[in-house]
Amino acid sequence: MKTYKIAAIPGDGIGTEVVAAGVEVLNALAGRDSGFTLRFDHFDWGGAYYKTHGRMMPENGRDLIRRHDAILFGSAGHPDIADHVTLWGLRLAICQPFDQYANVRPIRILPGITSPLRHVNDKDLDWVIVRENSEGEYAGVGGRVHQDSPLEAATDVAIFTRAGVERIMRFAFRLARSRPRKLLTVVTKSNAQRHAMVMWDEIAAQVAREFTDIGWDKMLVDAMTVRMVTRPQTLDTVVATNLHADILSDLAAALAGSLGIAPTANINPERTFPSMFEPVHGSAFDIVGKGIANPIGTFWSSVMLLEHLGERAAAGRLMSAIERVTADSRFHTPDLGGKARTVGVTSAVIDAIHDAND
Ligand code: NAD
Ligand code: IPM
Ligand code: MN
Repeated sequence: MKTYKIAAIPGDGIGTEVVAAGVEVLNALAGRDSGFTLRFDHFDWGGAYYKTHGRMMPENGRDLIRRHDAILFGSAGHPDIADHVTLWGLRLAICQPFDQYANVRPIRILPGITSPLRHVNDKDLDWVIVRENSEGEYAGVGGRVHQDSPLEAATDVAIFTRAGVERIMRFAFRLARSRPRKLLTVVTKSNAQRHAMVMWDEIAAQVAREFTDIGWDKMLVDAMTVRMVTRPQTLDTVVATNLHADILSDLAAALAGSLGIAPTANINPERTFPSMFEPVHGSAFDIVGKGIANPIGTFWSSVMLLEHLGERAAAGRLMSAIERVTADSRFHTPDLGGKARTVGVTSAVIDAIHDAND
């Protein structure tokens, strides 16, 4: 029987709560005649590790997870440590060197969940946001000089490369092709940003010629927020820069009911390195330790992990279990307006997995 090695990195805040739940659910799934087993290796990297060791993960951290089949990640972000230190020390320190350049964020209104948009039906919002995940505004290029003097200056330089833009456009067009509507929206800001975003648009148009079966359009990012709210049914697959898609994907999650349900796959399509699966949300300092974190975003990310491993049947079984549970408002956590707790939702999903197998 096939055994997959999964690196579990819960990180900080509610990351530890939702990843524990995710591991439990994945083990329940693998335990039931799924035809594969999972071996989890747990890594205690993050804010607490930083306080002891002065870094978010060991120097050879990536070597310890390089040969795993996938990574299940929670969140990097600790109330006592600057956000840029936790982010660059852990999440980006994995995503960027492992060239997980395609960040894929599907979102739709799951059964039983109410969108804050009063006019939408569940089927009106069914999107996948493709986020460029290796460069752009997150290139990490810049610096500060003359700190604490009136002459202080700082830059964050967004870097866009032809190779980087071409590969994410191709990825997005291919993904659009795999979905029934075959529709891609390219998000841009080429009115104000007159160099890199103009190149972004030109490359989109060039790559589009390879995909004549795909309908595509272009939206300025500000107007895109309005379209997401007022005409959600006109969108399907979306591609955007690192920062634009970061912002749009939180908005998308909220429009589908809660940030707590939204999943992410950080994909290295060439499979040279492991890919990483995590909820869209972060450490959620305001609810940490209360036992009310919504684990659905992590469960849905686990569906994407299983799909990436090629375990389609198990992925489908887990998604059905998630949808059976969200359909029942007794299992809604407070972010969805309910009173359920993380453990209650987790056992309900495990029960639904077992029912489906019986
Ligand atoms: P956040 O996503 O942690 O929280 C935003 C709001 O959504 C909070 O009110 C929170 O309670 C709520 N929320 C988020 N996830 C939830 C869940 N599963 N269930 C119920 N409610 C949930 O965003 P933030 O407050 O901007 O960031 C907090 C920290 O997390 C920062 O340090 C940030 O850098 C970090 N962060 C890390 C990641 C990551 O590593 N992937 C992602 C986002 C934010
Ligand atoms: C996300 C997060 C991160 C990002 C934060 C922690 C910087 O918001 O995964 O969406 O912007 O990449
Ligand atoms: Mn984000």
